[in-house]
Amino acid sequence: MKALITAGGHGTRLRPITHTQNKHLIPIANKPILNYALEYVKEAGIMEVGIITNKDGSEVKEVYGDGSGMGLKITYIPQERPSGLADCIRIAQPFLNNEPFVFYLGDNIIVGGIKRFIDEFRSMGSNCHLVLSKVPDPERFGVPELIGNRIVSIEEKPKVPKSEYAVTGIYIYDENIFEAVNAIQPSARGELEISDANQYLLNKKLKVTYSEITGWWKDTGKPDDLLEANRLVLDNIKGNILGRVDEESHINGRVIIEEGAEIIKSNIRGPVMIGKNTKIENSYIGPYTAIYNNCYIKSSEVEFSIVSSGCEILDQDVRIEDSILGENVSMKKVVSRPRVNRFIIGEGSNIRHC
Ligand code: DAU
Repeated sequence: MKALITAGGHGTRLRPITHTQNKHLIPIANKPILNYALEYVKEAGIMEVGIITNKDGSEVKEVYGDGSGMGLKITYIPQERPSGLADCIRIAQPFLNNEPFVFYLGDNIIVGGIKRFIDEFRSMGSNCHLVLSKVPDPERFGVPELIGNRIVSIEEKPKVPKSEYAVTGIYIYDENIFEAVNAIQPSARGELEISDANQYLLNKKLKVTYSEITGWWKDTGKPDDLLEANRLVLDNIKGNILGRVDEESHINGRVIIEEGAEIIKSNIRGPVMIGKNTKIENSYIGPYTAIYNNCYIKSSEVEFSIVSSGCEILDQDVRIEDSILGENVSMKKVVSRPRVNRFIIGEGSNIRHC
């Protein structure tokens, strides 16, 4: 079995970070989002992976190369433009070679991996196996209509959802899906919808089965989803201190401090991750914060936040909370008169003083 993982798309809801970075490379608990998908498929015993990228997939290629670093064989499949999830399968057909495969949306993170879903697909003799999760806002997702334990229809982002379930971004298909993705027409938003392809299989009376996720699952489409996914992953870490912590610092709870990191005269209250070669000085880092590699934080407080690599946060008077910092962000206080805020900020940036 092969896996097809998506890493293209618009990323519009995560601007401005996605102006300069592919959303699948944003770190969640100090690991690019896409790593989670790659680890799940590997754990399920799948070694051959196709990754759908934007037309220019160089950013993702630079990080994962041929996959050998992760023990995988990766083939990159560039998509001319983001024309929908069914289009991703359509263009990957030569790679998938008419065999059963896992289709995994690269912005989804779940606990417990995907092997159990593949086992169920096989044991039930399904043509399509979906993974459902109960959500408070099904109108954001593909939504199944269920009668008893049977899926009878699926709608994409319906105004009036017919159940409380979302179809999550984990799908297992046999070769029948290729007929579906080649037969359906673009939706009103101009995309070949995966929900329409799934509905096509239902119309053909093929066997569409499902599992329900009992633990947590997150589609990291919006900024709040990233912070929530970061919280959920950090909630399950085990503490491990490889970097240097001086005698005047206090580390409480589960904290990972990577090699080359330095904690000086600071308070770290876990769950927290501090990346390689990051220096924290005279600062407070509060629960559910992940600070990635090569950052410098001095005389500042950060809590419930994601800080990407290469950031510097110096002498901030007010705690930084509920925040996402892209790569190489610099926040500094300069003591001079008159006191002013000076910003060099890209389109769609979001600044809140509370
Ligand atoms: O997360 C689950 C939901 O994912 C499902 O419930 C929906 O039925 C399904 O349509 C999808 O909805 P989203 O609106 O969340 O899809 P999004 O546009 O965010 O794309 C999901 C992933 O696929 C993400 O990794 C980006 C990538 N993508 C997306 C499109 C439209 C591509 O690589 N190419 C594309 O053309």
